[in-house]
Order: sequence, then structure tokens, then C-alpha cells
Amino acid sequence: MGTYVVTGCAGFIGWRVSELLLTAGHRVIGIDNLNDAYDPRLKLWRLRQLEQHAAFTFYRYDITDRERLEPLIAASAPEAILNLAARAGVRQSVENPWLYYETNLTGTLNLLELCRRYGITKFVQASTSSVYGAATPPFREQDAAAQPLSPYAASKRAAELLCYTYHHLHGIDVTVLRYFTVYGPAGRPDMSLYIFMERLLRAEEIEIFGDGSQERDFTYVDDIAEGTLRALRPLGYAIINLGNSQRVRLRDALALLEEALGRRARIRYREAHPADVRSTQADISLAQALLGWAPKVSLPEGIQRMVRWYEQYCRELPALSLSALQ
Ligand SMILES: NC(=O)c1ccc[n+]([C@@H]2O[C@H](COP(=O)([O-])OP(=O)(O)OC[C@H]3O[C@@H](n4cnc5c(N)ncnc54)[C@H](O)[C@@H]3O)[C@@H](O)[C@H]2O)c1
Repeated sequence: MGTYVVTGCAGFIGWRVSELLLTAGHRVIGIDNLNDAYDPRLKLWRLRQLEQHAAFTFYRYDITDRERLEPLIAASAPEAILNLAARAGVRQSVENPWLYYETNLTGTLNLLELCRRYGITKFVQASTSSVYGAATPPFREQDAAAQPLSPYAASKRAAELLCYTYHHLHGIDVTVLRYFTVYGPAGRPDMSLYIFMERLLRAEEIEIFGDGSQERDFTYVDDIAEGTLRALRPLGYAIINLGNSQRVRLRDALALLEEALGRRARIRYREAHPADVRSTQADISLAQALLGWAPKVSLPEGIQRMVRWYEQYCRELPALSLSALQ
């Protein structure tokens, strides 16, 4: 069985990808700087799940710190690096774009360079549907993706281009995966479905940017993780959408949560944010053709699973001490 480096392993998607690799019998070298972009106790919770596997080793490293990464990558000689570490908030990237460029671009450059130096032939890069900007859905990989609406989207598109350069110059096999609005158990607390769930449970008012008719292609995290593992096969240089391929209005997603929790939302509408994309939907024919991948979990089912996980998490939260992160 192989060794894989997963950056962002304490993050939402990196955690599920690491779990799948470990369950399949692989060794995982996990890297994460455990930053406080959102409550680090959730990162700690994910890490605790991974540490139950003997084949998992964790390094609290920053992917912008090339000197520190180098001996680790050299010694571990992985089959592939899966780069899932990133600064990922669309609106927050408008406030501090430098942070996004450091991790999303310089961090990616560091990892690509280490692939070149140490003969690592496979690189999987997490990208985003945000690169399509205001294009008309369904989005296809050959769409221009030349007008990103936020520094986050621009940083991810720039990283995609850098990946191409390293493929061209050094023959590294790179698969870029454009994920579409990922949700599920242990999801990101700064994303809409998680915020809605918490506010409904606390009977707090819910803020919606715009009128709630904006559409997202909500995709369940296990489907994303499975597609990511399938992308480890040799593909040359490929950009592939991973999405549920259905457009759902934000208001309708909220209604599903209301139903799952048996609660009614109090909504306050705010002005739409110019960095937010209006509508997303993936054309997944390439993922089907190249990876034999199709999503399996419907939005109502995924929301049920997310709600059940949250009940368990709330019970375990008091035992998670941040001192473990010092
Ligand atoms: N969740 C989504 O809906 C979504 C959609 C499209 C694309 N993506 C992409 O998928 C990837 C994973 O996203 P996620 O939702 O799991 O986000 P996340 O924030 O939960 O995970 C990212 C992890 O990377 C770590 N990290 C950030 N900067 C780092 C650095 N400099 N060095 C080391 N570790 C660092 C963070 O601590 C975090 O644990 C990202 O590249 C993101 O842009 C996510």
C-alpha cells in the first residue's frame, strides 16, 4: 500500500480524504497549520478521528514554510501529494487577500517545487467552482474561467495555471479538482448550511445575502472524497468538476434544514455581496468519463447526516481542549 501526503488534513475535505485513504490501507502523512480561520476545536475533533488510525502521522507545518516542508517530503517519498490546504472563504478574501495568496499560491508553488525536486509524479490540487465567476451554469471545464469575482477565486485559478506550468516543464501528473459547495458532517462552520443549522438550533435570526434565490450545487463530502481518490490515477494534466450537478436555491436548502430540525427560520435579508457568485452547477460528464465518478448522496439525505453528526459533536465538544493545540 502507498504513502500519501495530504495537506489541510484537519480541514473538512482533507479529513474525509485522509480517512478514505487510511481505510483503504494506505499510509497518510497529514500536514495542517491548524489556523483559526474558524473554531480550531473542530479541526482538533477531525484530527482525533484520524489519529485512531496507526498509519496516520500528523505534522503541524505551514505549506508556506518551504524549508520546514522539504526534509519531511524528501523522507516520506510519497506516491502523491494531495493539496487540500487553503484559505477558503470567498468574502473574507476581500478583507485580507495577501493571506489567500500566501497559502493558495505560494503554498502550492512550494509543494509543486518539492514534487519536482524529489521525483513525486502525482499532484492533486483542490480548486473551486468559484473560478467560473459569473459564467452561465452548468459550468464546463473548458469554459474560460478568466473573470474570478474574489481574491480567493483568483488565487485558486492562479494555482491551477501554476500546476499546468509544472506539468508542462517537469512532467508532473496533475489533476485539478473543481469542487462545488461541499457540505456534510464536520463541515465548515463558515459556510451557509452549517451557519443555518446552528442558528436554527439556537433560535437565532438567519442572515441571507441577497434574496435567497441564489443557487448552489451542494455536494456531499463523501462523494467529493471518493472523487478525489479516483483522481489519483494517471491523467496527464486534467481539470475536472466534482459537483452534484443540481442547482438548488439557498432558500430551498434552508427549507430542507428547517424540516430536518423541525424548526422555522427567522430570516433577515442583506444586500448581495459582489464577491458572491449568483449560481453554480457542475457539468460532470468529464468526471464520469475520466474517473467513472458520479455523486451518490442526495441533498435531503446529506442534510440528515449533517444534523445527526452535529448532535454527536455537541456532546463531545466539552472534552476538546484547545491546550492540545499549543
Ligand atoms: N468546502 C467547499 O465547499 C469547497 C468548495 C470548493 C473548493 N474547496 C477547496 O477545497 C480545499 C479544502 O477546503 P475545506 O472546505 O476542507 O476547507 P478547510 O478550511 O476546512 O480546510 C483547509 C485546511 O487547510 C489548513 N491550512 C490553511 N492554510 C494552511 C497553511 N498555510 N499551511 C497548512 N495548512 C493550512 C487549515 O487549517 C484547514 O484545516 C480548499 O482548497 C478549498 O479551497 C472547498
